[in-house]
Amino acid sequence: MKTAQSFFSLGINRNQKEYALQNIPVIGKIPDWLKGNYIRNGPGMFNLDKKRLNHWFDAMGALHSFNIHEGKVDYICKYIECDSYRKATEQGDLSYSEFATDPCKSIFKKVQSYVFPMLPNMTDNPKINIAKIGERYMALGETPMQVEFDPHTLEKIGVDEIVPGAFAYKTTAHPHFEDEHAYNLVVKFGMQSYYRIYDMANKGKALCSIPVAKPAYLHGFGMSKKYFIIAAGPLLVTPIQLLFWKRPYIENHHWLPKEGGMIWVVDKETGKLKARFETDPFFSFHHVNAWEEGEELVMDLNAYDDASIVNKYYLKELENPSVSLPKGTLRRYRMNLRTKKINAAVISDACIELPRIDYKRYNMNGDYGFSYGVSLHPEKTTGFYNSLVKINAKTGQSSYWHEENCHPGEPYFIPSPMSKNDEDGVIISIVLDTQNERSFLMILDALTMQEIARATVPEPIVYGFHAEYFQEGSV
Ligand code: CO
Repeated sequence: MKTAQSFFSLGINRNQKEYALQNIPVIGKIPDWLKGNYIRNGPGMFNLDKKRLNHWFDAMGALHSFNIHEGKVDYICKYIECDSYRKATEQGDLSYSEFATDPCKSIFKKVQSYVFPMLPNMTDNPKINIAKIGERYMALGETPMQVEFDPHTLEKIGVDEIVPGAFAYKTTAHPHFEDEHAYNLVVKFGMQSYYRIYDMANKGKALCSIPVAKPAYLHGFGMSKKYFIIAAGPLLVTPIQLLFWKRPYIENHHWLPKEGGMIWVVDKETGKLKARFETDPFFSFHHVNAWEEGEELVMDLNAYDDASIVNKYYLKELENPSVSLPKGTLRRYRMNLRTKKINAAVISDACIELPRIDYKRYNMNGDYGFSYGVSLHPEKTTGFYNSLVKINAKTGQSSYWHEENCHPGEPYFIPSPMSKNDEDGVIISIVLDTQNERSFLMILDALTMQEIARATVPEPIVYGFHAEYFQEGSV
């Protein structure tokens, strides 16, 4: 058997091909009830003709759709046809500022702004997440310019701005859904900066506006039935540094552990600050769940002790096959809204990232049992994520799916038709197989974490971020 290729060369440092394939090969039997469209977002192109991008979060975004019907699978891959992508392919160079790569200074386009005259154009490359907002299918990134696409063809329909004048704003790619609302956090940078929450499904004025001297890098936020939760680790930016923009966006942020972790709790009904908690420094990309219990607010977070994970995702780190990724864990913060006491505990020692729960059933509900995420197997903790993990939030127990030379992406839980709980269903994940130099869509039984079926695509899929599944009838 020939030696497996490196994860880096197949999963990161390459440019995805576009596809539209019907009936890709399936091994195993896909459950009859599984009929729908699984769409995943993520990086597709790291190497422009004149520039290699620096960081996992920099690439031109590509969408992948796996349409599952009658046990068969059709596959489409398409780049997101935003302005950043169009210019990158036409000019072979970067024209917009990405997460950790800037265009060359000579092609900086100055924004016509009196507030921030030095800023480069912010990217409209929404490569992080997928969401259905109202009746529209959106690709989401961290600038508030989201691309609407056709879920059948993945063709771009248009661009939507949450707030106009996007250069002064950053948002998260992780809105929270409740009834017809799609709440999202927006950071407004300026002489006075603010954390704000908007409803993307019903654009208008901000629902809350919390002044902040040094905004944190925030990839998500939390929500319980009564509160929005802004959990800010001390990876902080001084807005004046953004004004002069001497380095790429994320590199204007500094890890300042002495500032500690800061958690703002905002009343959803009034938009007013309910409480602010100070805690030990932490860093987090992803919230997992939050709910109220008597006078306590409970928040489950996928967190790290520091922000070094951001640096480990640079390509110059990932190209080392024995890169050692810091271990994120599932942590529970209990915040007493009356006494203002806060307590933090690690739920499980298992490594987890890209966490998902049965969101539709259990978001804002402390009865939830399971988080699913990518992981490093306890017996193989070097290199890139090589396992899926399932963590029981009630007991802290964990179980894994692992296969040699395989790198599974974000696991997505789909309940079975008569599903009783959040392990009664299947897990879908796109897995990169470096031995066979291709990827496959894997379907696991969520209860046992054992494989049910896999559908193989002809080439490796660049390792990506987040997905959504739309049951047939909803597309
Ligand atoms: Co994310």
